[in-house]
Amino acid sequence: MSAIAINRTTFFCRTPVAKKVVMAVTGVILFGYLIGHLAGNLLIYSGNPAAINRYAELLHASPPMLWTARIVLLVAVILHIIAAAQLWLLKRRARPVGYCRKEETGSNYASRTMIWSGPIIALFVIFHVLHLTAGKIVPLAMAGHEPDVYHSVIDGFRVPMISAFYILAMVLLCLHLYHGLWSMFQSVGVSHPRYTPLLKRFAATFAFILAIGFISIPVSVMIGIIR
Ligand code: HEM
Repeated sequence: MSAIAINRTTFFCRTPVAKKVVMAVTGVILFGYLIGHLAGNLLIYSGNPAAINRYAELLHASPPMLWTARIVLLVAVILHIIAAAQLWLLKRRARPVGYCRKEETGSNYASRTMIWSGPIIALFVIFHVLHLTAGKIVPLAMAGHEPDVYHSVIDGFRVPMISAFYILAMVLLCLHLYHGLWSMFQSVGVSHPRYTPLLKRFAATFAFILAIGFISIPVSVMIGIIR
């Protein structure tokens, strides 16, 4: 690559547009993971504990594939956080003094929560991995020599504080996904006055379905639907 091309690439990487592209690409990867993760978790409703346990076994069947997926996810999370922090700093530098008067709208509410819902969701993921992957919060249930994911989930969600934290994190995740999806459409230029209400409804519906799907699990354990 020539020096000019390198300079141009470096310059582009520093622009807000490049940071928004990073946010959008990593956001899509994380969103895709959440859809797959929810689909797998909903196997808990199949009435057969072996279904979700077999699914978890399948995920662990190939360590190279498992670790590739984990590294891709981790890199996506780190880049997502770095780009978000850089964009936030750029915005603050561009407007060090706030607006005198600001109209409060629904999307403003979701966007204002982005800066703290992000770190809380990151903390939740650390807690969640310690809980259901490492068994450091509630000991993991075992079925012989294999981890028993079905009963580990139930044992965890029978603790009201754990369920409450999951539900709170999932409500924040819903707001985060709603604003994140919506801003992604704007960043990649899929925005038009005629389609704006439609895109907003699409983002809200997707975020809501994911959040309700996840929240249903601790709630179902607490009210005894899953036991
Ligand atoms: C009620 C909601 C949820 C349940 C029941 C659930 C269940 C699980 C279980 C059972 C595992 C361990 C899989 C295994 O190691 O065999 C796991 C891992 C994981 N979950 Fe969730 N999950 C939920 C929500 C979420 C959410 C909202 C996120 C992201 C924001 C998330 C991200 C992860 C990650 C990153 C892992 C670690 C995957 C790995 O082992 O590398 N989960 N989850």
